[in-house]
Amino acid sequence: MMDSIAQLLEKIEGTIIKDKATLESFRRDFISKKGHIARLFEAFKQFSIAEKKAIGPALNSLKNQAQKKFKNAASVLESDAVPSTAQPVVDVTLPAFGPIIGSLHPLTIVQNRIISIFQRMGFNLVEGPEIVGDWHNFSALNFPENHPARDMQDTFFLQRNPDQLLRTHTTSVQISTCVAQSPPIRSIAVGRVFRNEAISARSHCFFHQVDGMYIHTDVTFSDLKGTIYHFVESMFGQATKLRFRASYFPFTEPSAEVDMNCRLCQGKGCTVCKHSGWVEILGAGMIDPNVLTNCHIDPEQYSGFAFGMGIERIAMLRYQIDDLRLFSENHLAFLRQFTAC
Ligand code: DAH
Repeated sequence: MMDSIAQLLEKIEGTIIKDKATLESFRRDFISKKGHIARLFEAFKQFSIAEKKAIGPALNSLKNQAQKKFKNAASVLESDAVPSTAQPVVDVTLPAFGPIIGSLHPLTIVQNRIISIFQRMGFNLVEGPEIVGDWHNFSALNFPENHPARDMQDTFFLQRNPDQLLRTHTTSVQISTCVAQSPPIRSIAVGRVFRNEAISARSHCFFHQVDGMYIHTDVTFSDLKGTIYHFVESMFGQATKLRFRASYFPFTEPSAEVDMNCRLCQGKGCTVCKHSGWVEILGAGMIDPNVLTNCHIDPEQYSGFAFGMGIERIAMLRYQIDDLRLFSENHLAFLRQFTAC
């Protein structure tokens, strides 16, 4: 027995505990209830009282030494796991960082504002698809077949079905709305439109438009002017100057284009206003009787006005942005400027 105790003591002293795994195997092999020391205690029971007196102290000292070695090693490993005081201390009294929140895209901000201005005037928001047939985008809007007016808007046709195309203007929604509803109709449609144009600071192959119309008995050009003036003043302020220029659109007669004084250069001349001091912001006019007839609305009984504008153009003027590409390039330094808007 005394030999076994001596051998075990040698083994315990020779065991190197370097990590948690060796600490655990040390515990299991020597200290646990099924370990070597427990087995010696089991054998110890069979000895006579006299023998026990001789062996007992050696066995107890073996047990104490094993437990002491285990405790020391455990506390050394434990203290290694705790970061030392030399490492940076977290100062819990400092003010907390605010959460990083996103912001609305400037086009969304402007679009929401345009919608709310027109909704306050009684216009309903309507929707239409981005892929439409020729009829909705051109024919029903009084673009004659093979007429050069169709070239005003360079079109993307779908390869699998050339009668389908990416809408070139949200004016196509006028047709689906007039077909689905009957007068009085006062609606605006907003959304993305597509044109086969080279990408530059002033043009893009996709952009966003708002298109509005009002159809009722006795709607006049004065109603159109009043609506446009109210919109522009709500969007840009009372001091804004406007001018109506005669123009041509197949779906309106008479037609006009509306210019606003350039807010980027205050009239001094810049690339956005092409050094004229004026920027075109929308097209408008009285809905052509042919368009009403195409939608089964009697032009003898009803008249209407319509208008359409680019949301990018309005956003450029509102935020003094001189490059159209910024809206779709997702530079965070640009987008983060609109967090407070
Ligand atoms: N659809 C025209 C364009 O994209 C804009 C426009 C002009 C819309 C006159 C209208 C309108 O509703 O009446 O250039």
